[in-house]
Amino acid sequence: MTLTLALPTGRLFEETKSLLSRCGMSVSDEALTHRQLRIAAGEITLVLAKDRDVPTYVEHGVADAGVVGKDVLAEQAPEVYEPLDLGVGRCRMVVARPRQSGGKSYRDRSVVRVATKYPRVTTTYFHRDGIPVEVIPLSGSVELAPLLGLSDVIVDVVQTGRTLEANGLEIGEVLFESTARLIVNRASFRLENDAVRGLIRRLEEGVRA
Ligand code: PRP
Repeated sequence: MTLTLALPTGRLFEETKSLLSRCGMSVSDEALTHRQLRIAAGEITLVLAKDRDVPTYVEHGVADAGVVGKDVLAEQAPEVYEPLDLGVGRCRMVVARPRQSGGKSYRDRSVVRVATKYPRVTTTYFHRDGIPVEVIPLSGSVELAPLLGLSDVIVDVVQTGRTLEANGLEIGEVLFESTARLIVNRASFRLENDAVRGLIRRLEEGVRA
């Protein structure tokens, strides 16, 4: 049985590709050059998807497994198994505020306006502390929102910190750390248990290498 593994093409792609090649599942550069989205890698079939779509493919069972950031899992809470932390793509989910906020806390506002790609994570976090929020959902370049006055702060992932720095923002609070995770379709886990366990073992070895 050939397993299908969905890979994220965004921020996590390069580190995931290196991890897979350590596990003997190299992603062919030729296939990438030809913009192929389904690639054979030994006994595994790789499919390339947008980071946020990986859980959808796995939940629907058209991919048996996938690689996705904890940030996306926290937002989408898909019905999948999450058997392995791959340790790559390390970043932090943060509240970031303009550097020149003059010491005035955004938490003191009657309603905090938050621009984010993570509306569910944001709402849960602020509501837990009883802070009213207006969530402004965006799909990218979130750092623009405070610059233009669309929001007071953002909730987003920070890896190197360069994007925050370049746009006059700083970290206010850290919500959690995120790394890439292996997720597995629930039916595949039962029906293809040997193959899935084999994949998990190979990836575990790659993580330790
Ligand atoms: C993420 C995030 C920030 C940036 C942070 O976006 O939304 O904009 O990376 O990285 P840094 O701390 O290294 O500067 P991503 O590149 O994943 O793109 P996206 O907006 O398409 O999700």
